[in-house]
Amino acid sequence: MVIEIKNNIYWVGAIDWEVREFHGYETIKGSTYNSYLIVDEKNVLIDTTKPYLFDDLILGISSVIDPKNIDYIVCNHSENDHSGSLEELIKLTGATVITSDKGKEFLDLQYDTSNWNFKVVDNGEELSIGRRTLKFIKTPMLHWPDNMVTYCQEDKILFSNDAFGQHIATSERFDYEVESVEEMYEDAKEYFANILMPYKMLVPNVINQLNNLDIDYICPSHGVIWSKYIKEIINKYLEWSSDKCKNKAVIIYDTMYNSTKKMAHAIGQGLYDEGVEIRIFRVSDTPLNTIMKEVLDAKYIIIGSPTLNSNLYPPVAKLLTYMEGLKPSSKKIGVAFGSYGWMEMATSKIKEYFKRLNFKIVDDECLKIRHVPKEEDLKKLMEFGKRLAKEDV
Ligand code: FEO
Repeated sequence: MVIEIKNNIYWVGAIDWEVREFHGYETIKGSTYNSYLIVDEKNVLIDTTKPYLFDDLILGISSVIDPKNIDYIVCNHSENDHSGSLEELIKLTGATVITSDKGKEFLDLQYDTSNWNFKVVDNGEELSIGRRTLKFIKTPMLHWPDNMVTYCQEDKILFSNDAFGQHIATSERFDYEVESVEEMYEDAKEYFANILMPYKMLVPNVINQLNNLDIDYICPSHGVIWSKYIKEIINKYLEWSSDKCKNKAVIIYDTMYNSTKKMAHAIGQGLYDEGVEIRIFRVSDTPLNTIMKEVLDAKYIIIGSPTLNSNLYPPVAKLLTYMEGLKPSSKKIGVAFGSYGWMEMATSKIKEYFKRLNFKIVDDECLKIRHVPKEEDLKKLMEFGKRLAKEDV
C-alpha cells in the first residue's frame, strides 16, 4: 500500500515478509526495501528494490503516476537491494540515473549500462525538480564507497538509504506507529552492528553534516521512517559509533559434548555474581547478527570452542570470521576458553583473532580443560569470572 509522507512525496517500496538471509545477516523479521516517489515538474524515484520485487514497486508507483513519467531515478547506493530493479525501470521509463561517481562505476560493473543516461553528482550538488530542490550529500564507506544521501530542502526530508535502517517487515511505516519503541531501537542497533560497524568511526562526521539540516523525516531504505524519534536515533548512532562499552560480557561458545558449555556457564556465573550483565550464546543456535548486536557495546568478549581435528570447532570459526570483518571497537577484553582431548589448539586460534582486533587478552590456566570439567574445574572458572569482573580495559 502506497503511503503519502508529505504532499506529493510517497513511500512506494516493497515488503518482504519471508526473506531470511541477507549476505550472512539472518533477517528473522524479514525486511523492507523502501523506494520513494516525488511528484513534481520532474518526477523522481529515490532508490529501487531487489529485482524480484519489481512488480510490487511498479504497482505502487502506478497508483500515483504512470511509471513511464518518471524522469529521474536517484541511486543513493548501487547494492543490488536498491539497484536491482533499475534495469527493468530504465527499459520502461528511459529515466536518467542520478548517482555518485562511485555509484556509476559500480553500476557499470553490475549491469549493462550502455544505454543508460546518467547524471553524476558531486558532494553538496543541488538539482531543481520544480517546486523542490534535491541536495546530494556523499557518505562514502557508510557502508560502500558509493553511498550518498539525498535531502529535499522544501519538505525537510532526508532520504538516508542504508543509514538509520532496520531489517524488519512491518505494516507500520513510521516510528510513531510501532508498538514497542525499545524493540525498534534494538532492530536499528542490530542493523548498525552488522552493516555499519566496520566504518563507525566515520559516523560522527556524517552526523555533524546532518545537524546543519532541518529534518522532519529520515526516510531510510529499510525499515520504518523516523519522524517522532529523529533526535533519539541520531543520538543512538553517536553512542553506537563511540568506543563506550557497558559493563557487559558476551559469552559465545559451541560445544560437542557439553564440556565447553559447562565452562561458559561457570565463567558467566562468576561475572554475574560480581554484577556484570551477561549474555550467553551457543553459536550454532543463534544468528550471528544477534550476537554482533550484543558485541557492539560489550566490555568482555568471551569465546569458547572445543578443539576439533587440531582446530576450531567450525561454528566458532564462522563467528570469528564474521566478527573480525565487522571490526568491533578495540576497547574490549577478550577471553578464550575450551575443552580438548589430547592436543589443545582452539584457544590459541581464538586469541589470534583477539590480537588482530587489538582486544586486551586475559588468560588463565583454568581456561583449557581436558575432556569433561570436574566440580573443582568449574569452581576455578567461576572464581576466574569473579576476578575478570575487576579487570579494566
Ligand atoms: Fe541496503 Fe547496502 O544495501
